[in-house]
Amino acid sequence: MARNINCALIGQAFMGRAHSNAYRQVARFFDLPVEPIMHSIAGRNGETLPGFARAQGWQNWTTNWRDYIDDPEIDLVDVSTPNDVHREMSIALLEAGKNVACEKPLASTLDEAREMRDAAKKAKQAKTFVWFNYRRSPAIATAWKMLRKKRLGQIYHVRASYLQSWGGPDTPLLWRFQKKHAGTGAHGDLNAHIVDLARFLVGEEITEIHGAIERTFIKQRVKPGTKKKGRSDVDDAVLFLASFKGGATASFEATRLAGGHLNDNTIEINGEKGSLKWNLENLNELWFHDNTDAPAEQGWRRIMATSGENHPYYHAWWPDGHIIGYEHTFTNELADILMVLGRKKPTIPLPDFEDAYQTQRVLEAALISARERCAIKLGSVK
Ligand SMILES: NC(=O)c1ccc[n+]([C@@H]2O[C@H](COP(=O)([O-])OP(=O)(O)OC[C@H]3O[C@@H](n4cnc5c(N)ncnc54)[C@H](O)[C@@H]3O)[C@@H](O)[C@H]2O)c1
Repeated sequence: MARNINCALIGQAFMGRAHSNAYRQVARFFDLPVEPIMHSIAGRNGETLPGFARAQGWQNWTTNWRDYIDDPEIDLVDVSTPNDVHREMSIALLEAGKNVACEKPLASTLDEAREMRDAAKKAKQAKTFVWFNYRRSPAIATAWKMLRKKRLGQIYHVRASYLQSWGGPDTPLLWRFQKKHAGTGAHGDLNAHIVDLARFLVGEEITEIHGAIERTFIKQRVKPGTKKKGRSDVDDAVLFLASFKGGATASFEATRLAGGHLNDNTIEINGEKGSLKWNLENLNELWFHDNTDAPAEQGWRRIMATSGENHPYYHAWWPDGHIIGYEHTFTNELADILMVLGRKKPTIPLPDFEDAYQTQRVLEAALISARERCAIKLGSVK
């Protein structure tokens, strides 16, 4: 009989729903060494929370997440709240011996991220995880496996962009546009994902930022529920150039103002023997160009990454080519978290606080580069 893992979630909105779905589905599709129990959800809205808990399948609810600190029944706490509270929640829970799965970016500032990394190191028994869920689309996981087999040979270039279009002048002053809650704008929200993907796929660290642009185009936004305007003090877009340890060049671009791009998260890697590219809006497809094919036969090859036992996560879902979606990336990640908590190997490596801290160092270096208009060596950003 599998050991029970009592899970608690904090946050009842976008990620609250995405994660709740994962907790509901994971044991129905994956063969797990532990049994996840949807023990409790914490949120701030006492009026809507009971209904949310019922609809999403949580057994208990509370408006005080601190209840989890002293609750001996809780094994894993999932922090799905805005960035400014990740630090306080994660550290208190780690000190109480809880395993913590925190949303990205790890924190709103590098200082907070470092404290979280240090707390994770100190908490010897508790494990940490970060919801960089795009690693777990089968296409990215397949690309990761191909890269580990050196299918592209030496890596020359990484080109990553995460383009959205929802942040125009009519979008109200949500927490995402306030530095005190979000830390940064598109940068921590979107560049965090593509820096994680790039580091994960290349398998090396970024060692230098060569230059960056940080831009806030829309400086005033209407406060939700009012006609008054308030200051939007985060970036709308950040672009930067970087080098990997092995010499590969990299470019990153994140924006919420790219009309026509809804959730266009693209990464392309060019190497000595070939290229790979992926886009979230067609997340089951991995594109591969094999430079070693006969010249007359060369071209981009579409790999449907849900088409056989050799594709990661295939075993849990549907027959060949019966595609999966956005929500499955969370379920796949949760399955791997539960594998680790059950002392089994995850399908592909999971990001922990140390790993996400390294991503946060890259984000911080890019901001310094933009503000000081100079190149920044990662070694100087700790
Ligand atoms: N992995 C991804 O693809 C992805 C996608 C979207 C958001 N995120 C991240 O998830 C986190 C949450 O984002 P979201 O889009 O769900 O935000 P949201 O605004 O939709 O939801 C935030 C929730 O947190 C709750 N909350 C805030 N402070 C709280 C507190 N002190 N105690 C209890 N609940 C509290 C709010 O009431 C709300 O329910 C952010 O860190 C964001 O960057 C990740």
